[in-house]
Amino acid sequence: MTSLEDRLDEAVRVLRDGGLVAFPTETVYGLGADATSAEAVARIYAAKGRPAFNPLIAHVGTLDAARREAVFDARALALAERFWPGPLTLVLPRAATGTVCDLACAGLHSIALRLPAHPLARALIERAGRPIAAPSANRSGRLSPTSAEAVHAELGARIDLLLDGGDCTIGLESTIVACAENRVTLLRAGGLPRETLESALGTVLETAEHGRVSAPGMLASHYAPNARLRLAAAEPAAGEAYLDFGGRIAHPDLDLSPSGDLNEAAANLYSFLRRLDARGAATIAVAPIPNTGLGLAINDRLRRAAAPRPSDEGAT
Ligand code: TXA
Ligand code: MG
Repeated sequence: MTSLEDRLDEAVRVLRDGGLVAFPTETVYGLGADATSAEAVARIYAAKGRPAFNPLIAHVGTLDAARREAVFDARALALAERFWPGPLTLVLPRAATGTVCDLACAGLHSIALRLPAHPLARALIERAGRPIAAPSANRSGRLSPTSAEAVHAELGARIDLLLDGGDCTIGLESTIVACAENRVTLLRAGGLPRETLESALGTVLETAEHGRVSAPGMLASHYAPNARLRLAAAEPAAGEAYLDFGGRIAHPDLDLSPSGDLNEAAANLYSFLRRLDARGAATIAVAPIPNTGLGLAINDRLRRAAAPRPSDEGAT
């Protein structure tokens, strides 16, 4: 048996050699590479089959490391101090002292930074001694993995090393907020509820303009399982699998949270969609989910998963 220490040392060697390491965070698993090396980052895009214009989140181990990469205004600093480590990503102007390569930022003048809370993620970043660029560890456009098994099913041999940290406790990607020109804008709803951010800031967050793709996680069809989805379904139609919430019907295929707990539902969302996919469901009918707290992010992901897909229009 290799010890966790040995595993981490090996992971750091892989990263320093420009390889890919999948690792757990409290939100979802990340597909990590040395953020300072364009060659290493290019491998991420290749493994995911991701459009190269999508910028990646750089994961850092300390606030000081983050401040080397980006310019923090007073609000960004307040958010970082309050919510890091945790499920919050800040999009900020890049700093002149930054070390993250242009490819990871897709050539933008801004950079997405996150300080994750998961102990394995933190140990990896700390030992690597540099920022780690990591998108979710799935192929482009598909569900984010929330377990090591799901990472393996998505990417298998395309990664050099997989650190197994069990199931992700939050199960939804981080909330992404941009701070610029004295404005704080919500780019992606996620594991940190909007209400929590708003009460910390004492203001209402602006929402990214509809149709302007400032975070490609905002593409209409994204986070998709193989099955079709039918949303806000009171009950299943003939032949549909039913993904319940709050115990609406007697024998659902699965229930995201029989007690109606939105945090539990968020943690189960992707793994349950994967399970229904694996059972060969052609259509998954999903119960209505309340639009508060993490329900906002859950409904956002469900809408994208249900949206018409590029393949529907004959694209390849
Ligand atoms: O929870 C998470 O955020 C996970 C874990 C692994 O940290 N990561 C994740 O990464 O979800 P990814 O690449 O799947 O989603 C990151 C999103 C993308 O939609 C990307 O377009 C956006 O962040 N993003 C990155 N840099 C940006 C920037 N400079 N401006 C606007 N959006 C940016
Ligand atoms: Mg993703």
